[in-house]
Amino acid sequence: MKRILTGDRPTGPLHIGHFFGSLVERVRLQDQYETYVLIADVQALTDNFDDPQKVHDNIIEVTLDYLAAGIDPNKSTIVIQSKLPAIADLTIFFMNLVTVARVGRNPTVKEEIKQKGFGESLPFGFFAYPVSQAADILAFNADLVPVGDDQLPMIEMTREIARDFNRIYGPVFVEPEAKTGSFGRTKGLDGNSKMSKSLNNAIDIKDSADDTAKKIMSAYTDPTKARKDDPGHPDGCMVYAYHQIFTSGHTAIKEECLKGGRGCVVCKKELIANMNGYFAPIRQKRIELGNDLGYVRNVLKQGIIKGQEVTGDILEKAKTAMKIDYRDILG
Ligand code: TRP
Repeated sequence: MKRILTGDRPTGPLHIGHFFGSLVERVRLQDQYETYVLIADVQALTDNFDDPQKVHDNIIEVTLDYLAAGIDPNKSTIVIQSKLPAIADLTIFFMNLVTVARVGRNPTVKEEIKQKGFGESLPFGFFAYPVSQAADILAFNADLVPVGDDQLPMIEMTREIARDFNRIYGPVFVEPEAKTGSFGRTKGLDGNSKMSKSLNNAIDIKDSADDTAKKIMSAYTDPTKARKDDPGHPDGCMVYAYHQIFTSGHTAIKEECLKGGRGCVVCKKELIANMNGYFAPIRQKRIELGNDLGYVRNVLKQGIIKGQEVTGDILEKAKTAMKIDYRDILG
């Protein structure tokens, strides 16, 4: 069976950008692939090394989001990155195969470095995280990586590392394919092209119906539409952006808005009802799982055991190819 590896940084509960970016895709594909879902705590620490409590506490939050969204532990394995030392080992070896200039050109890291305003105090660990992410994927020899489109440069770099490793040391790694979700990027409540915890423009999966309503009521809409019968510009409006996800027949909404036949308050209320309706069963399940932390703990423990097994084997193959198993010397 072909393998999937994908992951998220546990820096907060997952939001609907994560959900539509790749979580629904993973849930859908877990029947056809041997699926591994990585809670990337090591990566989270690359820009949160001074806030370990946050990363710690979000392991459970993210696990609850996965399970509530439909990741099924009978089909998928949830793994905690720092519990898999093979990933750390591979990261070190892969660093030899990538130039500083190459990482510096990676658009995803470049954008994040800018957004976080690191300047001269850019941690080396953060700069190097694309190499560690390649190790996340190659440690499982994943065939497919469902990700948001912002992650495509990471998968490209992973493929290059796999190719270079295989050329220099012999065939060990699979060159993985990326798979982006069918919804594209989910925009932020403020109109930003990306929904993100750090931009404070996210609706979390776990948000209550009331929180969701408050957030949607304050979402960015067409500023030129002052009165309810003014014609609007749905294309820049976040409420319409979300209607496209949650509302069937959203083209009629667009036409009404363009003609001035639809007020923003009504439009928002309709969206809130659809969104809350969609997430109600997931949120309910999340609350139930939160009351059964023994079960959640067990899922994580099983995942660690399986993850260590799989990544340990692949690390051994890589070391043999690199002539550092020393069996000839040590017996
Ligand atoms: N970088 C990803 C993000 O910020 C998270 C991640 C870590 C990941 N390791 C991964 C995604 C491996 C896919 C595969 O969302």
